[in-house]
Amino acid sequence: MKKILLIVSGGIAAYRSLDLIREIKRRGDDVTCVLTKSATKFVQPLSFASLSQNKVYTDLFDIENESKIGHIKLSRDADLIVLAPATANILAKMVHGVSDSLATSILLANNKPLLIAPSMNVKMWNNPATIKNIKTLKKDGHIFVGPDDGEMACGEVGSGKMSKVEDIYKEISYLINESPLKGKKAFVTSGPTIEPIDPVRFISNRSSGKQGHAIASLLSKLGAETHLITGPVNIPYPDNIKVTEINTADEMLEACLSSLPADISVFAAAVSDWKVTNQSAKKIKKSENKNNDMNIILKQNPDVLKTISETNKNRPELVVGFTLETENLIESAKYKMTKKSCDWMIANNHIQNNKSVFDNDMNEVSFLTSDLQENWGLISKKSVAEKLCNKIINHFNNVT
Ligand SMILES: Cc1cc2nc3c(=O)[nH]c(=O)nc-3n(C[C@H](O)[C@H](O)[C@H](O)COP(=O)(O)O)c2cc1C
Repeated sequence: MKKILLIVSGGIAAYRSLDLIREIKRRGDDVTCVLTKSATKFVQPLSFASLSQNKVYTDLFDIENESKIGHIKLSRDADLIVLAPATANILAKMVHGVSDSLATSILLANNKPLLIAPSMNVKMWNNPATIKNIKTLKKDGHIFVGPDDGEMACGEVGSGKMSKVEDIYKEISYLINESPLKGKKAFVTSGPTIEPIDPVRFISNRSSGKQGHAIASLLSKLGAETHLITGPVNIPYPDNIKVTEINTADEMLEACLSSLPADISVFAAAVSDWKVTNQSAKKIKKSENKNNDMNIILKQNPDVLKTISETNKNRPELVVGFTLETENLIESAKYKMTKKSCDWMIANNHIQNNKSVFDNDMNEVSFLTSDLQENWGLISKKSVAEKLCNKIINHFNNVT
């Protein structure tokens, strides 16, 4: 049984931390709650005491509690501190080391991992002050979950909603449980590659990087030393992992080779099959072309997945490819799995619910091995990452 110290600050989502307490208790862990003064305006401490079955702390100058230096002891007794919901106010105080309450004093004196679930109005979340504060807190090594996008209590729409209780609990379990992939080394490719035509133009594709980033993030949370190799994308990188930015397929291959030896390799990037051989060193001008045509000569790029999969030196124990087709998906995926000598292949349906898989949060995939085909249906890219990581954990635990 692990001990969690839940700090609740005064946001509209404070009532949802009651469900979080129930989830923590349901999983068999112990939870003690600390409320800021503002939090007590939203939900009665009695509700927290009843659900946690523990004393609730609100006051820094509580004689009984502070006779044992409670603001230090509470964090020392815990395995993990969770701040949910985290107001813009308490995050700003943390950045500046303010300790004007029991909650902020615990946060300043804390020596345990801290998971933060922010919750605030979209304008508060996007305010430059909050953006700077979050950046600082992430740099200080704190772990964030959310916030989610959606409609707020105030009726405005955007980012700022506290994450779902199940998502917060998942993060808690990654932090308090034995890391099942501890000691394993992984690399994941993600996003598109871009192949220059001239200094300002290139050939690329619509890959968003969402699937590869989700896998890299989860492998890291599960304890694997993870390296994300990514083409240019417009999404944030997962926290606390090594990232190598590349542009071309050649650069992606080089980064993959430099990441060997590794135990796990996942190739979720959409690598361009071709590169331009007659690349121009200066911007190609329309006026220089006598007729209206322009010829680009293409040459095949190296096959990153096949090269790593067939390397004689330090081949990863697990090589997982992704493939996307617009027709004959499964046959083509099986063919590629054999031709490229990879262990597992994930076959992506290009169109799902009339939308392209690219830049979509959902993915419809089939999981293939030499003797297995599972259709995972239309699920979120995060769920694909979870299912794949479970397979990886089972592989290393010899569970079939
Ligand atoms: C009805 C109401 C709802 C609020 N909701 C939020 C919220 O969701 N997030 C937030 O950062 N602040 C919210 N605030 C403002 C905080 O309560 C205020 O900043 C307070 O000082 C936070 O104190 P604490 O961080 O010590 O708990 C809300 C205030 C009111 C009156």
